[in-house]
Amino acid sequence: MKEFSANITKSILTGIQPSGVITLGNYIGAIKQMVRMQDEFKSYIFIADMHAITVPQDPTTLHENIRSLVALYIACGIDPDKNIIFIQSENEYHANISWLLECNTPFGELSRMTQFKDKSSKNANFYAGLFTYPILMAADILAYDVDYVPVGIDQKQHVELTRNIAIKFNKKYGDTFKIPDVYITKEGTKIMDLVNPLKKMSKSSENPKGVIRILDDINSIRKKIMGATTDSECIVRFDPEAKPGISNLINICVALTGKSISDIETMFEGKNYGEFKRFVADTVIEEISAIQARYQKIINSQELDKLLEENATITRAIAQKKFMLMKEKMGLYK
Ligand code: AMP
Ligand code: TRP
Repeated sequence: MKEFSANITKSILTGIQPSGVITLGNYIGAIKQMVRMQDEFKSYIFIADMHAITVPQDPTTLHENIRSLVALYIACGIDPDKNIIFIQSENEYHANISWLLECNTPFGELSRMTQFKDKSSKNANFYAGLFTYPILMAADILAYDVDYVPVGIDQKQHVELTRNIAIKFNKKYGDTFKIPDVYITKEGTKIMDLVNPLKKMSKSSENPKGVIRILDDINSIRKKIMGATTDSECIVRFDPEAKPGISNLINICVALTGKSISDIETMFEGKNYGEFKRFVADTVIEEISAIQARYQKIINSQELDKLLEENATITRAIAQKKFMLMKEKMGLYK
């Protein structure tokens, strides 16, 4: 059974919603940071499929996305020996804990969540789960007594709510939960859309030519990069204001090769954009084809099923213990 390395003492937990194939932007801006963090922390990473269903989902697509995302994260360098990767809905104690927390969370406090206000205002027929979503998130976190919760700034309010819920619970029923700290992941290099380099490369973009997805076929990746918007100066020079397209391509190279901006500028002194773009395409393709090769091996392997099964068992045991403790503290039949 998996054990974290003994000299790593602090733990983190984060959830990822299974919403479609990740982009080169996600990979450079977020996953590479997670890969770095796995050497410093005991890490729990899970696919938040129960959070995904707070808005309507197509069951077939959702089902495919869940397994595929686990395989993709592993293929991108999230090491299953260093992290406990699991699927939220495979651990029924998250929902059980969530209910007990719901009965300890003031309605008024939940009503202040800005993500809820924002999402519910866009669709009048929203589900009740969209409202209680932050409590399920508190359950995810509090079940594991983690030190830090790395999230983007949009999730900060939910982690603060989690802290409030835990502090109040501890006060009312006695010490039950560790109080976690939020760990705001600073945005890594922001990768821009290849067609419109003034806009972030995004999963939900309408123009597929501007977005590289990690599972795109290699020829189309080359085409997209060769067709990327540039400018008429014909000098490979980093200047995000005046040359957003070229600067974005330079950023991609810097993130993937470890070279500096000036290394790249020097390499392409006196050369044309065609040559530079070929280099960018080769660099991206080298990285992505290695990820795709690993992905193909993982996605259909029984190892993946075994890993998920094993991690479901590990995390169930942890969360069950917390659930039983909560029941006891709250006076439920045990
Ligand atoms: P999202 O795809 O918006 O759910 O974002 C998931 C994670 O990827 C977040 O940490 C984002 O900051 C990061 N991310 C998304 N798009 C980009 C991008 N174009 N460049 C850099 N980071 C990104
Ligand atoms: N709500 C988070 C998001 O949309 C995902 C998430 C669910 C999460 N549970 C979590 C993140 C627990 C951190 C901790 O990004």
